[in-house]
Amino acid sequence: MSSFRTTRLLIWLLCAVPMADLLVRAFTHQLGANPQEAILRATGLWCLTILLVTLGVTPLRRLLNWPELVLLRRMLGLWTFAYAVVHLLSFWAFEHEFVWAEVLRDAIKRPFVTVGLIAFGLLVPLAITSNQSAIRRLGMAWKRLHRLVYAVVLLALVHFFLHRTGKSNFTDPLIATAVTGLLLGLRIYPRK
Ligand code: HEM
Repeated sequence: MSSFRTTRLLIWLLCAVPMADLLVRAFTHQLGANPQEAILRATGLWCLTILLVTLGVTPLRRLLNWPELVLLRRMLGLWTFAYAVVHLLSFWAFEHEFVWAEVLRDAIKRPFVTVGLIAFGLLVPLAITSNQSAIRRLGMAWKRLHRLVYAVVLLALVHFFLHRTGKSNFTDPLIATAVTGLLLGLRIYPRK
């Protein structure tokens, strides 16, 4: 197997591990005193983490001069979306007993839910157009559309901060913001 295919398989497996771990712990009752919160927090954190790794692909590709790495972006983006879907479905199921109208009512009441929903809404077109035929069909518009990823990251950070406001614990959101700043900085500089 070529080294790139091995890398791709390894990264796919790494992305699947947290999901598998959550499933195993859920079915073996090892998610602690509040399993629903544990699932929501873990899926939210993994969604953001993989999103940040996705942003890291371009600077890494330039650094290693390894053009094939661009192919990892799609896979990582789809894993980001998968965690976002599970995160949203968990919220719908655990906090609103499968009633979408309640989710929307909550979005009007709590800004952190509003921001999360907008971030999710922006991820949808990115996931739908992540295939080769969409890239071919949309041409330059594809590039412009996929710049939405920056808005998604910023909204995800705001969502993270707002969620932690009640808990007055900003260490993790601050770390995520610093990593985002670094990744965005690396994307701009140095540009050959
Ligand atoms: C791109 C989309 C999203 C990302 C990246 C994201 C990320 C996160 C992160 C990082 C946390 C904090 C976890 C922690 O404090 O340890 C979180 C918490 C949370 N998110 Fe999201 N989120 C997204 C969308 C949504 C949506 C659409 C909803 C619901 C409509 C939502 C509902 C929640 C809730 C309820 C929590 C609190 C979990 C708890 O501690 O009980 N999120 N999210």
